[in-house]
This record gives sequence, structure tokens and C-alpha cells, in this order.
Amino acid sequence: MQLNDDQRRILEDTTDPFLAKCMRWLVDWGDAMGANRLVPVANTHGLITVPGNLVWGAGQKTIESAMELLRPACRHRVRCLSTSHITFAPEEQYEEIEMPAEQVEAQKQIMAMARDAGFLMTYTCAPYLVGNVPLKGEICAWTESSAVVYANTILGARTTRHGTESAIAAALVGYVPEFGVLLDENRRATLQVDVKTELSHSTDWGALGYFTGEIAGLEVPVFTGAPQPSQDDAKQLCAALATGGGVTMAHIAGVTPEAPSLEAALGGRPPKRRATFGEREKRETYSGLQQATGDEIDTVILGCPHASLQELAELGLALKGKHIADGMTLWVNTAYAVRADARRMGYAKLITDAGGYVFCDSCPTNSMRVKANRIVTAGFKQAHYARNMIGAETIVDSVDACIDAALTGRWARA
Ligand code: F3S
Repeated sequence: MQLNDDQRRILEDTTDPFLAKCMRWLVDWGDAMGANRLVPVANTHGLITVPGNLVWGAGQKTIESAMELLRPACRHRVRCLSTSHITFAPEEQYEEIEMPAEQVEAQKQIMAMARDAGFLMTYTCAPYLVGNVPLKGEICAWTESSAVVYANTILGARTTRHGTESAIAAALVGYVPEFGVLLDENRRATLQVDVKTELSHSTDWGALGYFTGEIAGLEVPVFTGAPQPSQDDAKQLCAALATGGGVTMAHIAGVTPEAPSLEAALGGRPPKRRATFGEREKRETYSGLQQATGDEIDTVILGCPHASLQELAELGLALKGKHIADGMTLWVNTAYAVRADARRMGYAKLITDAGGYVFCDSCPTNSMRVKANRIVTAGFKQAHYARNMIGAETIVDSVDACIDAALTGRWARA
């Protein structure tokens, strides 16, 4: 790989072995992926937490090994805008969930260290909801597959899928290896998906994403015939694309910034493959994640990916003056900053007065592994992971159906 003077200086700097190690990770990764060079990165989103903190009772050994990365990393300053992905739980809940003392201590230390390094501790899987909104063409290094697809597809920014080490390394050295969707030729769509059914709400967009992810593998899809999505629709589409398969970016003809038309998305060439998302495909995609042996529900999960302010407002108004069923847990995941706004505006209180739980910084299944028997959720990603991570029966349905299940304790099959 060709390195410029600054990159070579960092790589060979014996006075800063940690930064040299970061550069070595990026160079080796780039070599393995066939990159010819490193390019400046303007924006990162990484997991700045004890990875073991994502499991209750991580243990001292896990904490120490994570600190071996985070302590030296946080002795440096980030070179670009850098936000953080989810953690275990917000500080105010440490006592309530009886978080082990060593994890509490580690989490507090990381927060302070990361602040001094310039990381913005947003703790969210949807950084674009809390001010990290890269512009078209901006080179990023993001973790969190749903956010990666959103950045490429909706914002026209450019990021490959990053892991903890590579995102932190990119933030500190200011470069990423240039491969994959950082290059024009790899952003061209090859799979055309014709949408021939109504997308009535955000969860239908999730169904489209999950269906397409399953058939796309690593290909870049382009959607035709789809209506204009809202931000929340796009959030569901992108999360499901990265859950059903390994999609890094897609095009929505007329919506994706670099795809004003189908022809532009395809780069003037015919698609390699075509598929149709019609009524039958939509129905089968839902039923694939509606595998429950009964209709009684104990848990409803909304806000996967983290809920927007608009979603919290709509939910608060739908629950106003009502109360969820006895024995029901209603989780509504969001970012701390979004919850703060929803609190000030009174929407969060409408949800909590109804018995719901507006939960920030984290995720009940992915990180906290809460106990649940049968879950209804509006997010295909949440349904997919809840089933695999906590072994619960899962049902995916619209937000309206989720609210109805939360209020009645039963899922009303359509
Ligand atoms: Fe976020 Fe958890 Fe969903 S991390 S994308 S709410 S699975």
C-alpha cells in the first residue's frame, strides 16, 4: 500500500507505539482488503465501552482487556468528529439494575477518559439522530451495521463496516483504508428490486429491507417503485437490510443522494439480477419472524434502531391517558439526547405515565439480554436478534399493533 509522509511517520513513530499500532491495524486491514492507499477520514462512530459491559456481570478480566485498548486510546485526541455507539445502561440505572461495582467503575472511567480524548459519548445506534449527520461524499468509519447502511444509502456518505478497533484507530490517526463502498465502482447497484406492494408504515419498510437483505448477500440493491420514505421508514429499511443479509449500501431511486434515477444507481449498466417485492413476498417476510406458539405477550419493544423524537411524540400521544396491561413490559429505546428533548416536551412522561419505559444509551436485547417469553416489536432487526440472543418467541408487526399488544396483553393477528 502507498503511504504518504504523515502516514509513514505515524507508522514508524517509536515514541508513540499505540498510535503506530493503530496505523498498523489499518494498513494490514487495507492490505487484506486490496486497498491501494489510506484516505483521510472525517467522521467516526465507534463502540467506546467495555465490550463485556454489554453483558451483565462481565467480570474483571474482560474489563481489564478492554481497558488495555481504551486507556491508551484515550490518552490521545481524536482527529475528527467521533461519536459513540451504545453501552450497557445509562448511569442513573446502575443501581436499579444492580450493575456490578467493577462495571460501574469501568464505565465511569471510560466516560471521563473518552471525554478528554474528544469522543462525543452519544451512546446510540442512530448517531444521525443526535447530530452526527455526515454530508454527501464524507468519508466515515462507522460501527453499527444499520447506521452504516443509513450513512451510505440515505446521506450519501461513505463508510465500510467497522469494528471497535478500526473505528477507534481511524478516529486517532485520521485515516481509513480505501476499499469497498469508499470507491465509486463498488457503490453501483447490481440487484434491482421492484416494489409492487404498498409500504403503509415503517415496519413495511423493514420487511422490504429484510427480504432484500436475504437475497442480496453482499450485493448493492436499488429499489424502484417505492414511495418517498420518511426518516423513520429509512431507519427501518437500513437496519433490516443489514440484518437479513450483509448489505452495506443500497439505493432508493430518486432518494439516495447519488441516485437521482434508476440509471444513475445502476451506473448506466443493466442489473445483474432483478427481484420483485410484492404482496406475497411481504406477507412471507413477516411470517418468517412471526413464530409464536400463542398470542399472549409479556414484552413490547419499540425503538430499534433508537427512536426518533417524532416516534416518541407519536407514541406518547397514542398512549396518553391509557395504561399498558398488567405484567407487560414496554421498552422504548432511544438516545439520551432524544429522550432529554422528549422529556422537556412532555412526550416521555406520556409514555412513562402509561407504564412504559423510555430507555436510553442501550438496547434491551442486544446489550442487556433482558428476560422475556414472547415479544412483539416493530423492528425486524430487534425481532431477529431477540430470538437469537435471548431465546424469546418474537413477533414483528406495525407500531400500531405493538401499542395494541402493550395495552391489551395480546397480539391481535391480522
Ligand atoms: Fe439499536 Fe439494539 Fe436495534 S443496538 S439497532 S436498538 S438491536
